[in-house]
Amino acid sequence: MIAVPGSAGTRRARLAALGYYVPEHRLTNSDLEKLVDTTDDWIVSRTGIRERRIAAPDEATSDLAIKAAEDVLANAGRSAQDIDVLIVPTCTPDHLFPSVAALTADAIGARGAAAFDIQAACSGFIYGLAQAVALVESGLATSVLVVGAELFSRIVNPGDRSTFILFGDAAAGALVVADDDGGPSGFFGFELGADGSKGDQLQIPVGGTRHPASLAFDQADAYLQMNGREVFKFATRVMEESVLRLLERLEMTVDDIDLMVPHQANQRIIDHAIGRLGIPPERVFGNLEHYGNTSAASIPLALAEARDAGVLTSGMRVMMVGFGAGLTWAASLVRYEPT
Ligand code: COA
Repeated sequence: MIAVPGSAGTRRARLAALGYYVPEHRLTNSDLEKLVDTTDDWIVSRTGIRERRIAAPDEATSDLAIKAAEDVLANAGRSAQDIDVLIVPTCTPDHLFPSVAALTADAIGARGAAAFDIQAACSGFIYGLAQAVALVESGLATSVLVVGAELFSRIVNPGDRSTFILFGDAAAGALVVADDDGGPSGFFGFELGADGSKGDQLQIPVGGTRHPASLAFDQADAYLQMNGREVFKFATRVMEESVLRLLERLEMTVDDIDLMVPHQANQRIIDHAIGRLGIPPERVFGNLEHYGNTSAASIPLALAEARDAGVLTSGMRVMMVGFGAGLTWAASLVRYEPT
């Protein structure tokens, strides 16, 4: 894209469309009982997950991102040529480089678009939205597609039952566009953060420059490793705190939230956070039981399914909140304004 700062005028950003793609293959808890030492009862009671989608052997992350991107564009009634920037939040890219975003932009025909990945793990979609809003409201872009795409089934250790059961594969995203109607931004605000001192609580040790995959390594170090209890404690704290900090900054209360769509990682974490915040469960949407944790795809996947279920409707104020590796966290309040 070619951008000229200062031409923004009165433009504001608007969340105009949602879309998603999930692989066909379902891996249920009873399927998992045959693969690892676990039970449906343990998984449901500890996490709320009943099944997850698993990509086909010949599918990589960009294959999921391409289909999700096309779904967003179809829902928006726009063509790929309209896209100025394609951002793919992912921590499971096809390769270290090229980026998933570059491959996706090429495949969907977004030839004039800038394209890049961002890595904030499960907080990535909200981080990506913040970038999209900044690009649009500064006048640098008119139309930004953000597609969270993850393929965690390739990075979980089949020998580690505490993580193997948690994750699934999916891609989902949103289109952020400029409006020149002079109204307030469709995005009320963002609360983003990171605490790298806890980076080792959720990591893949091998494959980067700290330990290149070209050097000898223990197979287990090439898989996701997690201190589940520490991440659980962190998640319950930041889910509550980041929402409260954002509401305070906006001079709003939980009563101003029409719908809450939290990161779909664990039902106990969600229940704990909404209980502390005092948000009634009927104002919270989730689909964790069908997909497990799909990382950067989880929030937009839930948003899109909330729309399909008629739970998310035009004009609603939606609070999104997530957490993930880094450790990172992110919250945002947005008005849903479909085209
Ligand atoms: N099936 C059966 N038993 C299992 C199991 C499984 N899939 N996974 C672990 N266990 C066992 C453990 O081995 C342990 O057994 P022990 O007491 O004999 O040693 C027991 O269950 C309790 O393990 P623990 O790790 O304390 O369980 P937990 O209640 O903390 O639940 C998680 C584990 C992973 C579900 C939970 O810690 C969690 O959800 N953490 C947050 C993870 C998360 O959301 N990560 C994503 C970040 S984006």
